[in-house]
Amino acid sequence: MSVHQEVKKVTTHQLQMMKNRGEKISMLTAYDYSMAKLVDAAGIDMILVGDSASNVMAGNETTLPITLDQMIYHTSSVTKAVSRAFVVADMPFGTYQGDSLEALRSAVRIMKEAGAHAVKMEGGSEIRESVERVLSAGVPVMGHLGLTPQSIYKFGTYTVRAKEEQEAQKLLEDAQLLQECGCFAIVLEKIPAELAKKVAETIAIPIIGIGAGQHVDGQVLVLHDMLGINKEFKPRFLRRYADLHTVITEAVQQYVTDIKNRDFPNEKEGY
Ligand code: KIV
Repeated sequence: MSVHQEVKKVTTHQLQMMKNRGEKISMLTAYDYSMAKLVDAAGIDMILVGDSASNVMAGNETTLPITLDQMIYHTSSVTKAVSRAFVVADMPFGTYQGDSLEALRSAVRIMKEAGAHAVKMEGGSEIRESVERVLSAGVPVMGHLGLTPQSIYKFGTYTVRAKEEQEAQKLLEDAQLLQECGCFAIVLEKIPAELAKKVAETIAIPIIGIGAGQHVDGQVLVLHDMLGINKEFKPRFLRRYADLHTVITEAVQQYVTDIKNRDFPNEKEGY
C-alpha cells in the first residue's frame, strides 16, 4: 500500500459540478508560499493569485503597476504550496488588452513558469479576442466583470457598479459572451445583489462574487482583508474572520519589550 495519501485536486469540472448540485464554492487570495499552504490545508476550493498583490504586497495605490514577472513570482510561490486547491492567476494590466497574441504569450508564461491552473482577465466584449485566443491554447480562463480595478482611472471611484439599467444590461451580455467563449467561471465584483442573482441564474458556469451578495455560486475575499491584517479597508461586503492586526502588533510589542528587558533570550533559549 502506498504511504502517500491521494489528495483529490479541485478541477474546473468539479467546480462546475459544485454549481450544478448547489454547493457553494470558496475562494481566497494568496500571494506567497506560507499563506497559500495554510489556506490550502484549511480546505479552500480555489486560490486567486490576485493582482491585488500590487496593493497588499507592494503597497501600490492601484493594481496597475504590477508586472507579469512579479505575478509569475507570486504565482510560483503559491503553486509550490498547494496540494488541493485550484490556482487562478491574474493577468496583469497591459498584458492582454488589445493584443490577443500578447495575451496568449502572457498566459503561456503564467502557466509554464508559475504552474498556475488558470488565468483571470478583467472585461467583457472589449477583450473577447484575447479570451478566445488564450482558451484556444487550452488555458482555462476566469472572467471578471463589475468593478474591474484595472480600469479604475476610467471609473474614477471604487463604488458599486452596474446600478443603472444600461450598465447592468451590458454586464449580463458580457457574462453571456464569456460563457459562450468557454470561460470556466466569472468573478462579479461590487454589483447589486439582485443583478448578481440574475447572472448566476441565467449563466450555467460558476459565478463567484465579491461584494455581489449571497445568491451567487461562490465567494472570494482578499485574504489580508478577511484576516484583519489591514484595518483601514472596511467595505460593507467584508467580513473579518480574525484580528491579526492586533495579534501581530501585540506579539511584536512583546518581543521588543522582552529584548529591552533582557528577558529574551533566556538561558534555555541559548546553546
Ligand atoms: O486581485 C484580486 O484580488 C481580485 C479579487 C478582488 C477578485 O481580483
